[in-house]
Amino acid sequence: MSKQVSICVIGSGYVGLVAAVCFAEIGHKVICVDNNEAKVKMLREGGVPIYEEHLPDLLAKHLNRGVEFSCELGPAIEQCDAIFIAVGTPQGSTGSADLSYVEAVVSEIARSVNGYKVLVEKSTVPVYTNEWVSRCMHRHGVEPHNFDVVSNPEFLREGTAIEDFLHPDRIVIGANNKRSADLLRDIYAPLTDGSYYAKPDALPGMLSAEKPATLLVTSAQSAEIIKHASNAFLALKISFINAISNLAESVDADIEDIAAGMGLDSRIGPKFLRAGLGYGGSCFPKDVAAFYWVAQQQGIDFQILEEVRKINATQQEIFFNKVRSALWTLRGKKLAALGLAFKGDTDDIRDSPAIDVIKKLIAAGATISAYDPAAMDKAKAVLPAGESISYAASPYEAAEGADAVLILTDWKEFAKLDLQKLNVALKFPIIIDGRNLYKPAEMLELGFTYVSVGRPAAYTAQQGKPRKLVLS
Ligand code: NAD
Ligand code: UGA
Repeated sequence: MSKQVSICVIGSGYVGLVAAVCFAEIGHKVICVDNNEAKVKMLREGGVPIYEEHLPDLLAKHLNRGVEFSCELGPAIEQCDAIFIAVGTPQGSTGSADLSYVEAVVSEIARSVNGYKVLVEKSTVPVYTNEWVSRCMHRHGVEPHNFDVVSNPEFLREGTAIEDFLHPDRIVIGANNKRSADLLRDIYAPLTDGSYYAKPDALPGMLSAEKPATLLVTSAQSAEIIKHASNAFLALKISFINAISNLAESVDADIEDIAAGMGLDSRIGPKFLRAGLGYGGSCFPKDVAAFYWVAQQQGIDFQILEEVRKINATQQEIFFNKVRSALWTLRGKKLAALGLAFKGDTDDIRDSPAIDVIKKLIAAGATISAYDPAAMDKAKAVLPAGESISYAASPYEAAEGADAVLILTDWKEFAKLDLQKLNVALKFPIIIDGRNLYKPAEMLELGFTYVSVGRPAAYTAQQGKPRKLVLS
């Protein structure tokens, strides 16, 4: 029988909200605290502020049973044994992580400590943050025997967050003593002993009662580094395949075949080898920068991370030049932009390559008709509808009378478009695909000029293959 733990989760964003609901799902009693009153009000009424599969169902299942929401941190700290900090750690001006939200929360926690508490770093933070959290608690007068600080990095991806949380590749606990490590072991026991997966209403996924989650216990410093190193390595894989895609394109090879051939080597693996517009989102860009900064602070020249960043930035420029090259000039052209989110299956537009490309195209004089299945409301806040951008109700409406379609996000529905319908809607049948969702030969057969990433472009006779141009 697993032990029920009283948990406070601070922050109800992509990580905090998912963690809070999933801790309730595995049997704990959770209070999720956020200082955004509107968000808390919405959550209390059963509303879900983010687009995430399974989240509405799990929230409905546990609201006011296993999980409740509050704006008041003090009473929550008093009632709970484990306090998960899941506030933002955005990029600061030097590239380092801005830890001011973490510090503000720790100072507030210190004021309410009424017995032994374990503070858990769920946010992604640089190595030694555990030391700083401890120092901050001491400075606010909390006795050392009244708290421990543990690192428990989160590896979920947006879009599959709930499944990733409940069926993780691994759970990492970075604790510098047994007492705090044991509390975290208790919290994750339903996943590591398999009892959660044996329940008839458990969320299905890759783990089972026979093959439960793997737990790794390390020092706090090692756990902090595991998180940064994992994100940096995944970003490196993406930049590596993107660099190869540019080579492939220049010699008429096919990056999809190359990635398949590399991925079949079990030491390399097929994941995170999708060439395209480059990585975005609220994590890879800032975490690569923060990890580079950490290394610099230790006098280590981690130049490879700077190359990862540069390749990623170049990838967007290359795409922009492809659009120009396919359309000759951009001023006055109408372009249908399919995708605004930083990747499919999410409404998150933070650091979205799609938004960056759209901004550049608008600056070059193009007008955009955009469509995204989930991210349009969030996009309207940064790119309000007006003369240069409008929002359509479907991909076909976006394509109506457009000079070309641009695929900017890898939504599944964009890989299954009615291409005949799209062709009829367009002024010219040109698709420039930043996510390689179609096969060039098939697109040519359907009468499209089709330009993608790391593959020979397919040009219809009317469109003609442009000679290599030197673009200003
Ligand atoms: P987010 O911006 O979606 O959510 C942060 C929340 O914290 C917001 O709701 C905000 O109102 C709240 N908050 C800020 N200050 C607060 C305070 N003083 N008291 C109470 N609430 C406060 O951020 P996120 O995407 O959930 O990321 C959180 C952390 O988790 C970051 O460090 C991020 O790098 C890491 N992470 C994110 C993901 C992801 O997929 N988004 C995955 C793994 C790790
Ligand atoms: C990423 C990691 O995958 C998570 O493990 C981690 O917890 C999280 O960051 C975090 O720390 O916040 P996420 O940003 O949600 O998750 O999304 P990913 O699926 O990793 O995609 C990140 C970006 O890389 C997207 O823009 C995506 O389009 C791009 N990508 C991904 C590629 O360009 N090619 C690929 O092969 C894979």
